[in-house]
Amino acid sequence: MGDLLDAIKARRAVRCYTEQMVEREKIDKVIEAGLYAANGKGLQSPYIIAITNKELRDRLSTLNREIGGWDPPFDPFYGAPVVLLVAVDEDYKNRVYDGALVIGNMMLEASSLGLGSCWIHRARETLKSRLGQEVLKLAGLTDKTYEGIGFCILGYPKDVPAAAPRREGRVRYVD
Ligand SMILES: Cc1cc2nc3c(=O)[nH]c(=O)nc-3n(C[C@H](O)[C@H](O)[C@H](O)COP(=O)(O)O)c2cc1C
Repeated sequence: MGDLLDAIKARRAVRCYTEQMVEREKIDKVIEAGLYAANGKGLQSPYIIAITNKELRDRLSTLNREIGGWDPPFDPFYGAPVVLLVAVDEDYKNRVYDGALVIGNMMLEASSLGLGSCWIHRARETLKSRLGQEVLKLAGLTDKTYEGIGFCILGYPKDVPAAAPRREGRVRYVD
């Protein structure tokens, strides 16, 4: 078995994708990695909404761009064909920790499958919008109020950037 650290170092935020759709089997594996993330109290609180429909993906991109204050034709999903939205009950106190770990796991699995991924923000504002409510309804999540923790975009990378050097002095051993 390879060293997991090598895989962790190989994962990078990808911001340039080909148009090729990701195979369902690979999307499922990425999602499974998210489902196996550690989670507060073992409650498995996060939901993962997989958006593969191009029209919906494009509408979410437009909304994300508007929330971010960018001008068209900027695509905050960078051309990635798949968007995984992580949502957690907004009343659950560990929602951000749990959701963040899900996205972290999914990005690592994506990288190990040769896919590109990137955490994209503004999921919180998205789920508060009319379009966000529509997505939750389509996903059958209407029982409570959900907070958007983040989007994990997925696709085949055109280019994987090199890692930035790590900042010095961020580790303190107290022996
Ligand atoms: C909480 C969080 C929010 C992020 N939001 C965005 C985003 O909205 N757009 C984007 O292009 N990258 C976003 N990123 C990716 C970071 O910019 C990226 O991880 C960082 O530059 C380090 O690069 P690396 O992942 O290749 O190490 C986000 C990452 C995190 C953890």
